[in-house]
Formats: sequence, C-alpha cells, structure tokens
Amino acid sequence: MTTIDLTTTEPTAVEPIDPEAVTAFAGRYLDILNSAAIAMLTSVGHQTGLFASLSELPPATSEQIADAGDLDERYVREWLGGMTTAGVVHYDPVGRTYHLPREHAAVLTPAAGPNNLALLMQHISMMGEVEQPIIERFRRGGGLSYADYPLFHRNMAETSAAVHDAALIDVILPLAPDLPARLAAGIDVADIGCGAGHAVNLMAAAYPASRFTGYDFSEPAIRQARAEAERMGLTNATFELFDVTALDAREAFDAVTAFDAIHDQAHPATVLRNIREALRPGGVFLMVDIKASSNVEDNIGLPWGSYLYAISMFHCMSVSLGLDGDGLGTAWGGQLARRMLAEAGFEDVAVADVESDPFNSYFVATK
Ligand SMILES: C[S@@+](CC[C@H](N)C(=O)[O-])C[C@H]1O[C@@H](n2cnc3c(N)ncnc32)[C@H](O)[C@@H]1O
Repeated sequence: MTTIDLTTTEPTAVEPIDPEAVTAFAGRYLDILNSAAIAMLTSVGHQTGLFASLSELPPATSEQIADAGDLDERYVREWLGGMTTAGVVHYDPVGRTYHLPREHAAVLTPAAGPNNLALLMQHISMMGEVEQPIIERFRRGGGLSYADYPLFHRNMAETSAAVHDAALIDVILPLAPDLPARLAAGIDVADIGCGAGHAVNLMAAAYPASRFTGYDFSEPAIRQARAEAERMGLTNATFELFDVTALDAREAFDAVTAFDAIHDQAHPATVLRNIREALRPGGVFLMVDIKASSNVEDNIGLPWGSYLYAISMFHCMSVSLGLDGDGLGTAWGGQLARRMLAEAGFEDVAVADVESDPFNSYFVATK
C-alpha cells in the first residue's frame, strides 16, 4: 500500500482563466444591462398607453405621438430613443418618424390579450420599488407586507385578466371534466385569494345558475372585485374580506378555484386542508400555480427561470415570510405541489397545461 507524503507534494498549478470566456461573460452582462433598461422602458410604454397609440398611428413624429396620447413630447422623444435603439420601434431619420411594426404590436399592446408581454414588465419595475427593504431583510430576515406593494394587486389583476378573458370559460374550466355542465346546472363555488375578482365575475356571468364566493384578505382588491360585480350587474358573485387560513367551511362548495394563490400563502398546508374540508364529496379543486420544478437544477433551462426566483424573492416569498409564514417561494415546483396536495388529502390529481398561460400548471384535484 502506498502512502502520500503531503509535505513533499507539489502545489497544484492554478489554471489561468480563459480571457475569451471573460469577454463573452462581460458581453452577456452588458446585454443584461440593456435588456433591464428595455424592460423598464416597456413598462412605461404600457402604462402610458404609448404602445397602443403607436399601433394605431401611421409613421409619426414624436410630437404627433405625444399629442395622440396627451403626453409630454420631451419625455416621449426620450422614450422613443430607447425603443428605437432597442429595435422595438423603427425610426426614419428623414421624416423623423417612428413606427411600431405590426409584429411588435402583436406582443406589446393590450389588443394582444394574453400575448401582451409589455404588461409583465410592470412586475420588473415593482421589484425595484422594494429593493432597499429586501436588502435589509437579507441582513436581519423577516419579510414584507402586501402594503409595501401599492401596485401589486393592480398589476396582478391586469396580468391574470388577460389570460382569463381569453381562456377561463372555454379552455380552463373544461380541464375539470363535467365542471362546465355542473356549473350550468347550478353549484356553489369558492375562489381562494381572488384578488380583484375578475375570474369570479367572469364565471358568475357565464354561469348564472351557480353561486360564487371570492375570498381575499386585501381590502383594495375586494373593493375592486365588488365594484366590478356591480358594474356587471351580477347577483350570484359575492366577495369576502377574509384570511383563508381561518376558512372553516365544511362541505359547503362543489368546486374551489385558486388562481396563483397558493404559493404565496403564509400557511399553504393549512389552506390546502381547509379547501379539502370545504369541498363536498365529489367536489373539484382547480389549483393554478407556477410551472416549475422543485429542484433548482431542473429550472436552469426554463426561459423565465431567473424571473421566477426574482419575483419570489422580491414579492411572493417575502409576503409569506412577512406573515411568519413558510416562504414557499414562487418556484416551489410541481413535485412539492403534488406532495402537499396529497398530504392535504387530494389523492386524485391531474395536471394540464394551457397554451395561453405558459407560466402556470393547472392541477385538477377531486375529493
Ligand atoms: C398572486 S395573487 C392572485 C390573485 C388572483 N387570484 C389573480 O389571479 O389575479 C394572490 C392573492 O392571494 C391573496 N392572499 C394571500 N394570502 C391570503 C390569505 N391567507 N387569505 C386571503 N387571501 C390571501 C392576496 O391578497 C392576493 O390577492
């Protein structure tokens, strides 16, 4: 048997770093710098209505574009500069006109519905608003409160409404076999973490024989939900300002939905158990939640993987931790979701995808 004399072992030579890899990586980061700036410009373009204006105008000067949106020309011209250098807007230096190609309008305007990627950029700017408190939480732990995000419910409502307007009634609800027929006949439905309530109101309008209750603990969101129900003249949609951790309904509903509202719960296991208790035998639970793996290594190739961990750190995980919660995180993943559903008593779970909503998995569980 040979032994190694460590005292005489030559130190291992350190490999020189690859200068080409350094240059390539630095280039990637310059690209990230520029892309981050484009994300912010896009968020502003969405909120000021500039993309919608541009899509309706022929090639136009900055003055014409500003006039069309009743905006300040100097700001509009600077924004157009950023959009032009990004290749989003095309510029004709002779006539000094700007133009949004129709192919770009198809992913940046409200008319694009769930394909409108501009509205998602608002989530990037929201993260910037809480950067300092989040850095502080790195040092001393804890979380944030929903009140720290004055625009969260507005942004979330806009994002989910784009999907629900396009697909809730015709694509999403039929994922649960028999659900549309039962809704048409008249059943009791609860929506957990309903936010601004648009999904509930759409379902209530489509199925007047059924009764819908939306639960959320955000006062502004519930106010918005009730106002929309009133505008729509709905008498079968009610909204309750309520913390679903305390939901103690027993066999009160035939169907329960939760649209992106489990992963940011403070106590998701309790809420899942409450949901199962609230269902009547044979009842259906439709849980829509982020499509990811529970293993970080599986998410490396996910095109929006870093976005998921970022929005989690800046919002979903933090609001859960802010309530002394589990801080599951946005990328809790399908494996953990299935395990927690099983632990809550949901043995029979099917998972589906919806084309207009690539970010989410659709779990259909039956009691
Ligand atoms: C990501 S948002 C989704 C909102 C809505 N379902 C949608 O798709 O637009 C999660 C919602 O759950 C609500 N929420 C979180 N924890 C809650 C709890 N324990 N009780 C009631 N609502 C809760 C939040 O206020 C928020 O409106």
